[in-house]
Amino acid sequence: MPSILVLNGPNLSRLGSREPDVYGTTTWAELVTALEAAATADETISVRQTNDESELIQWLYEAADTSSEVVLNPAAFTHYSYALRDAVAVVTGAGLPVVEVHISNPHAREEFRHNSVISGVATGVIAGFGVDSYHLALAALRARR
Ligand code: DQA
Repeated sequence: MPSILVLNGPNLSRLGSREPDVYGTTTWAELVTALEAAATADETISVRQTNDESELIQWLYEAADTSSEVVLNPAAFTHYSYALRDAVAVVTGAGLPVVEVHISNPHAREEFRHNSVISGVATGVIAGFGVDSYHLALAALRARR
């Protein structure tokens, strides 16, 4: 049975109250509920968030070790974490998909957000569709099985 880890980086637990003009008003709790409810009968979805780069890297190792597919919103780590990039490469290097997602469209925002150090090793990128970006990523994972 396919297992999907939906991994989220720093500050995403503040969804709903953090910059709602940019990230929308869906709360973190609502997003977790909606994504877990979106699991089909033949897959499992685990949704997690951390502010800790080390923990995020460990979860990526877990994906590699358990053959899990990954939806990853690296949040601000997107723009500077080479350590996270290398951990994503561990997963995609093992033949497992990692879809990088963003709620906002970083390319339409401040210049420092225009570069992702993750995209070059991700399977694909979905950005700018609000919290629907996550659901589109799940659809992309299912389509490539
Ligand atoms: C984000 C975009 C990042 O630039 C930002 O640091 C985030 C959220 C997004 O989902 O739009 O925390 O990844």
